[in-house]
Amino acid sequence: MNKLSVNHLLGIKDLIKDDIELIFNTADNFKEIINRPIKKVPSLRDITICNLFFENSTRTKLSFELAEKRLSADIINFSSSSSSVSKGETLIDTVNNILSMKVDMLVMRHPNAGAAAFLSKNVNATIINAGDGAHEHPTQALLDAYSIKEKLGTLKDKNILIVGDILHSRVALSNIFCLQKLGANVKVCGPSTLLPKYISSLQVETETDLNKALQWCDVAMMLRIQLERQQIKYFPSLREYSMLYGLTLQKVKKLNKEILIMHPGPINRGVEITSDVADSKHSIILNQVENGVAIRMAVLYLLAGKTKPTATL
Ligand code: CP
Repeated sequence: MNKLSVNHLLGIKDLIKDDIELIFNTADNFKEIINRPIKKVPSLRDITICNLFFENSTRTKLSFELAEKRLSADIINFSSSSSSVSKGETLIDTVNNILSMKVDMLVMRHPNAGAAAFLSKNVNATIINAGDGAHEHPTQALLDAYSIKEKLGTLKDKNILIVGDILHSRVALSNIFCLQKLGANVKVCGPSTLLPKYISSLQVETETDLNKALQWCDVAMMLRIQLERQQIKYFPSLREYSMLYGLTLQKVKKLNKEILIMHPGPINRGVEITSDVADSKHSIILNQVENGVAIRMAVLYLLAGKTKPTATL
């Protein structure tokens, strides 16, 4: 298979295993290219991309922008805080104005779940979801799974633990879909108030005891508490949360086995992970960020190839 089964990347839920494998194989080529002295290829030189960010971002925004530049696309960047959205312009009007400037693809982060899917049904452009509320963050899950595969050789039958604020996490949901499609076993761990009720319907086990869950896993993916999405208190204090669910070197050493430690960022050091773990040899946090560029190049390249088949590697 050399074409994706989808025309937009709205969520991992829509992808089949072959799509994910195609993205990984394409990312392998791009990873080799971006480690050359000349890191640029002309693949998307006839494509114009707008990065639409209605929510803050460091990694995703810069990683997409770099991926687009490495592929020689023309880029414009939109940030809602400095736009006419503050004057009352709707999402569709905003996007249609951008598209009238002959833009082919949109990379969008938005605080509302379903915003990327809504846009794909209402405007004429290829849409890539860069995170929609607490719903999905597909390129994060792809780069996470790619990074695990790079270290462990395969995802099949590996035990992957996701720890923290599962209820509000788009990274958790996209990772659950992605890891399961690749044959991994997924367990989530956190205070019961932050474990959504629907999780059992996704064939994901839950555990509230972090030490027990760590014994089970090959990989621990630590998540940030998403205070910006929490309207009520889900646990008594951050101090208590970090005592029970924060990953410390003491907890890692007690395992007497090697595990990979991941975090999508941004990290709250001392809350969900201590500095000595985040910066330890077990941690692949910066490998995740590095792989994000190659994965996003692969996604952009494969989707552009569907709309403008002139794109060449
Ligand atoms: N992992 C991630 O989405 O980070 P940013 O919010 O900085 O893009």
